[in-house]
Amino acid sequence: MELSEETNKLLSEAVKVLKNSYAPYSNIHVASAILSDGGRIYVGVNVENSSYGLTICAERSAVSAMISGGGRNIVAIAIATDYPEPLMPCGACRQVIAEFSENPLIVSYSTSTGKIYAVRLSDIFPRPFKLMKQ
Ligand code: THU
Repeated sequence: MELSEETNKLLSEAVKVLKNSYAPYSNIHVASAILSDGGRIYVGVNVENSSYGLTICAERSAVSAMISGGGRNIVAIAIATDYPEPLMPCGACRQVIAEFSENPLIVSYSTSTGKIYAVRLSDIFPRPFKLMKQ
């Protein structure tokens, strides 16, 4: 698949932090990098917990980093994993991504097989739940 230079850079930023993933229970390491409309890149990894349900996905870690860093809009989001298949964001992450984006490009990559998928959020999450901003 041909990716733009910008998208390749985003993916490589996600791959760079994949080693920081904390996933001792599933052993599935996931990292994410967000390109915000200010042109900045924010990264996150999955953070698991002994109390399994408290696990934070890589995409939501990256969204937290973006908001903490002053970013507001997601232009594109890259996901990297060592799992044999590229991962699509889980339902919770789709909803959180939708809060801060119009229709971002999602690029997902498996480091173990080299497979890449690229989709728009609307392809996998049409008609998100949104409240009117007050
Ligand atoms: N995971 C993510 O980081 N992002 C997703 O969108 C799906 C799942 C993580 C959570 C958990 O640490 C591991 O993948 C296996 O579910």
